[in-house]
Amino acid sequence: MAQQTTTPTIQLKGVSKFFGNIIALKDVSFKAHKGQVTALLGDNGAGKSTLIKVLSGVHIPDEGDILIDGIPTTFKTPRDAAVLGIGTVYQDLALQPLMSVTRNFFLGREISKGVFLDMNRMNEITRTEMAKLGIDVADPTQPIGTMSGGQRQTLAIARAIYFGAKVLILDEPTSALGQKQQLEVLRTVNQVREMNEIAIIFITHNDMHARLIGDRYTFLNRGRVLADGDRDEIDMDNLRALMAGGAELAELESEFQNTST
Ligand SMILES: Nc1ncnc2c1ncn2[C@@H]1O[C@H](COP(=O)(O)OP(=O)(O)OP(=O)(O)O)[C@@H](O)[C@H]1O
Ligand SMILES: [Mg+2]
Repeated sequence: MAQQTTTPTIQLKGVSKFFGNIIALKDVSFKAHKGQVTALLGDNGAGKSTLIKVLSGVHIPDEGDILIDGIPTTFKTPRDAAVLGIGTVYQDLALQPLMSVTRNFFLGREISKGVFLDMNRMNEITRTEMAKLGIDVADPTQPIGTMSGGQRQTLAIARAIYFGAKVLILDEPTSALGQKQQLEVLRTVNQVREMNEIAIIFITHNDMHARLIGDRYTFLNRGRVLADGDRDEIDMDNLRALMAGGAELAELESEFQNTST
């Protein structure tokens, strides 16, 4: 596991993002190290997606800084972020179900040989890269639709890594899957961690998955960081209680405001 004293691969300092008068993120600091899984947790509307959109150049923060390997950076577009090694796997995986495994792996970044696509080479790379993550693809010319949900998730991950991701952002990778497939994805994520080169940000609602796979946790609540720390520093049950308490308090506050006007 990477030492905490090393410079984070990616870091946010004091980031805020507003949508009109909605505070999606307020003064958020966040970091992820290579060779580690940072689990990003929080209830609906906590700001998780907004945070990863800031990290991947979709949203430009209203306040605060983004640092890559300790160097302040600005992303104007998702392309800027991708060039700097931010690979984001969104929930829909951006796959074409009718196209082959290989064509999906290389979607938009095909290898040519003269005027033709170099299918042999692309098939070979697809097989090799999937094997690195423990998936044996017997026939990469088959439609991607023949693969299981877990395998498709692995393909999206393998693709991001092959095309240079050093920060791998996974947006709820287990939420749409059955239990067996979920474990398959967790196994894949573990394999990426063991490469020791990539900082993984794992967004989840599932505390158990966070416990299983997370080296560090960042808990968001109403756009703010409620807690941030190593696996053994964080008491998940306590946090849940805190969050529930926070919600009740806010409810009471608005009730009192309503009665006092
Ligand atoms: N493009 C947008 N325009 C306006 N408000 C937005 C926009 N994106 C997010 N928000 C608001 O910002 C807040 C944080 O939303 P966000 O999607 O980041 O939460 P989340 O933690 O990803 O939630 P979920 O678990 O439901 O995916 C919410 O109040 C949401 O309604
Ligand atoms: Mg979200």
